[in-house]
Amino acid sequence: MRIESGGGTEPGGAAPAPLLPPADPLAGQRVLVLISGSIAAVKLPLVVSALAARGAEVRCALTPSAERLVSPVALASLARRPCALDDDQWSHQAARPLHIELAEWADLVLLAPLSATTLGRWVHGLADGLVASTLLACEAPVLVAPAMNTAMWEAVPVRRNWQALQTFERVVPVAPAHGLLACDRRGEGRMAEPERLLLALESLALHGWRRDWAGRRLLVSTGPTREFLDPARCLTNPSTGRMGVLLAQAALQRGATVDVVHGPLTVDPVLLEGLRRHPVVTAAEMERQLVDLQPAADAIVMAAAVADHRRVEARLDKLPKQDLQPALSGGWEPVPDLLAGLVARRPAGQRILGFAAHSGDVLPQARAKFARKGCDLLFANPIDQPAAGFGSPFNQGWLLGPGERIEPIAPAPKLAVAHLLLDALAGLPLRPPAAAPPHRPAADGMHPAAADP
Ligand SMILES: Cc1cc2nc3c(=O)[nH]c(=O)nc-3n(C[C@H](O)[C@H](O)[C@H](O)COP(=O)(O)O)c2cc1C
Repeated sequence: MRIESGGGTEPGGAAPAPLLPPADPLAGQRVLVLISGSIAAVKLPLVVSALAARGAEVRCALTPSAERLVSPVALASLARRPCALDDDQWSHQAARPLHIELAEWADLVLLAPLSATTLGRWVHGLADGLVASTLLACEAPVLVAPAMNTAMWEAVPVRRNWQALQTFERVVPVAPAHGLLACDRRGEGRMAEPERLLLALESLALHGWRRDWAGRRLLVSTGPTREFLDPARCLTNPSTGRMGVLLAQAALQRGATVDVVHGPLTVDPVLLEGLRRHPVVTAAEMERQLVDLQPAADAIVMAAAVADHRRVEARLDKLPKQDLQPALSGGWEPVPDLLAGLVARRPAGQRILGFAAHSGDVLPQARAKFARKGCDLLFANPIDQPAAGFGSPFNQGWLLGPGERIEPIAPAPKLAVAHLLLDALAGLPLRPPAAAPPHRPAADGMHPAAADP
């Protein structure tokens, strides 16, 4: 994916000409799904079904234990392709070894759930069985989602094996969730939810296996803020927070440590897994969090839709209906400009990307805002186009940068736009990254998920 340039960049243009309809990044991808023996395997038919519905070519291979937990017939039916089992490796009909054929076929591999046994086999280079031998033969990126009981997960040999896996090239660990396990325990070990696995696969399809944000800290603000007229009424906007959350997830997968300061969100909570979250409600609360987190950040993305005005004096009691009119027309003050505050306080080398939502002629407004704000990049997006704006799965707009750079971004899924914006930020001179191991998942990524469907 690249930023489209040329064409439609005339000043005063209402929005970039739609170059292509937004395509699903997973369409046409060959996805190999490897399933090992955890009870979380029962969730994989959902993933396989969603991948096929989105136009991916899907093949599944199961360990003998997985075969006892989830139906190969169901998986074959949902994938629209035969499901491979250990016995198939020994078929005299096969012209090539099945594990090599599968490994070479795949653009992307999903290993989910990863059991303690399959983890141990892989880390120690054992190739007994179809799944284990395919993993060793495979040169495509592998998305890995462990699942097991908390005590198993915390067992020293499993921790060691998991640590060792972090050093493998092309491995993308998917941070697991803390949650209810099939053993009735609440704790670490619950496999990442299907939606999260699909999002991570989509990121891999868009961006490949690149850890270009490793050792860097990114601070993202997103979602709306609310300013209360009284305890029952507030000034806010329809921002869902999806664009900023996807940007944070994209950066996490590219190796960054990501803090997200967010107002009340309306996104699937699964999309927040793995992020360091700082929930707020008002602009003042958001500002306090940003002030605290700004010094440690290498780059900041200010995607929040901050409400413009707030009450001069907060009311603790609910206004009677008949008093609403005067209260709506007086007693409000402008909210401080949070982006301007970030720019004024920024330490040397910190990069800041601002967002600007406009209707009508986006570009002239964006140019004026960019000149006024002093941030390094400004992404201006229309809120009155079908493939963009509040609540849309897509976005489009203009990216303004140093040296009069203005690039149109064609309509695309928000995750694709997120990767484009991260590419643009990473293309600016940033502070040298802190020393980081070659590959390490974000904060809770070291505590994989477990076993409950
Ligand atoms: C009902 C059931 C649930 C299981 N759940 C898990 C699990 O969540 N994680 C795990 O590592 N092992 C789990 N196991 C144990 C594995 O299936 C067992 O260790 C097996 O050797 C894994 O082999 P495989 O990696 O070849 O699939 C479970 C076993 C059973 C019978």
